[in-house]
Amino acid sequence: MSSKLAIYPGSFDPVTNGHIDIIVRGLKIFDRIVVGILNNPEKNPLFTVTERKAMLEASLKSFTNVEVDTFDGLLVDYALQRGAQAILRGMRAVSDFEYEFQMALMNRRLNREIQTVFLMTGLRWIFTSSSIIKEAARFGGNINGMVPKVVNRQLQRKFAALDPSS
Ligand code: COA
Repeated sequence: MSSKLAIYPGSFDPVTNGHIDIIVRGLKIFDRIVVGILNNPEKNPLFTVTERKAMLEASLKSFTNVEVDTFDGLLVDYALQRGAQAILRGMRAVSDFEYEFQMALMNRRLNREIQTVFLMTGLRWIFTSSSIIKEAARFGGNINGMVPKVVNRQLQRKFAALDPSS
């Protein structure tokens, strides 16, 4: 049987425990997962792609079948280039559905060989997003348990560096 590879794409600015949950559960279906960080400067990210990659690698270091990579351009082209059979996405709530559906249909139109697989996000991560975590961290809110420890440390460091009063 051939080995099944999925790309788990996103901005990961930064990675949260919700993303990790999808990766861990995705590994029950796929033999390998490549986490693809979109190099998209238009989104005005808090962390550089290099910082995001380092945080993902540190958070996923115990998984030998997960690789972290970056990509530009079309996701389906990248998936093809990596030899992946599927794109893995987490679906948090009904509000995610329209955007995800649109993206999956466009990706299928662009390349019918690549299937999009959706996993329901774990209930405890349903209201989590990178933006909401950044906002909480920026104002000193407790985000323990919502992000990997390395991310928590990097968020504290980043906001301390950005705050001229500290
Ligand atoms: N748990 C917690 N949060 C989650 C989550 C989960 N399971 N799944 C998604 N999120 C959050 C993210 O943190 C992010 O939050 P934010 O908006 O507050 O930062 C949000 O959901 C959506 O982010 P993400 O999943 O990273 O998607 P994205 O919209 O940033 O990126 C790509 C989507 C990269 C897959 C898409 O833009 C892409 O493929 N681009 C390449 C060009 C292309 O091929 N386009 C499609 C065809 S035209």
